[in-house]
Amino acid sequence: MNSLFWIIFGYLAGSFPTGYLAARAVKGVDIRTFGSGNVGATNVGRLMGKKWAVAVTLADMIKASVGILCARAAGVDDSWTIAFTGFSGVCGHNFPLWLGFRGGKGVASTYGVVFFLHPPISFFLAPAGGIIWFALLKLKGYVSLASLISLWCLPVIAALLSFPLPFLLLLTSLAVLSTVRHRENILRLFEGKESSFKK
Ligand code: G3P
Repeated sequence: MNSLFWIIFGYLAGSFPTGYLAARAVKGVDIRTFGSGNVGATNVGRLMGKKWAVAVTLADMIKASVGILCARAAGVDDSWTIAFTGFSGVCGHNFPLWLGFRGGKGVASTYGVVFFLHPPISFFLAPAGGIIWFALLKLKGYVSLASLISLWCLPVIAALLSFPLPFLLLLTSLAVLSTVRHRENILRLFEGKESSFKK
């Protein structure tokens, strides 16, 4: 099967609106009208608590990595195809077909792709990013800030670990994409209006 098939497949799998469906099913709420309006796990957590935030995080990680997992299982070993399929998985979450292309900010979905990107070493890269994320959250209290800094650490650590070029470009592109998706959070951070777990 050709690369385009896997890129489209990755996008469709990533498009599954996990947070939206969870909020609709459990609370009958359109998550896009609540809190930050984001369909991601942080906003689901605001509405439904920590357990649901964790569940949606895991589901978002899995759905975005389905493309690269299936491609590999089908024998694809071309790094460019894997990189583009991973990118399309995160794009599926950020611009989902089922929600009029208005989705999330791609943090959990990026971590899902990163975990399975370049095994076995990526099994350590994703948790390393997770530790940075957690430490920053504890220190500063802002999920968005922790997400952005940890995402930008990933290509740097991956470069130190000699990841192949397509994967380094993928990690950098995902950090850029997520930064753009967080533009309102960044503005709020500068204005001191971002919601914090410390306040
Ligand atoms: O995962 C997204 C997070 O970094 C920010 O989410 O809801 O505070 O905009 P939110």
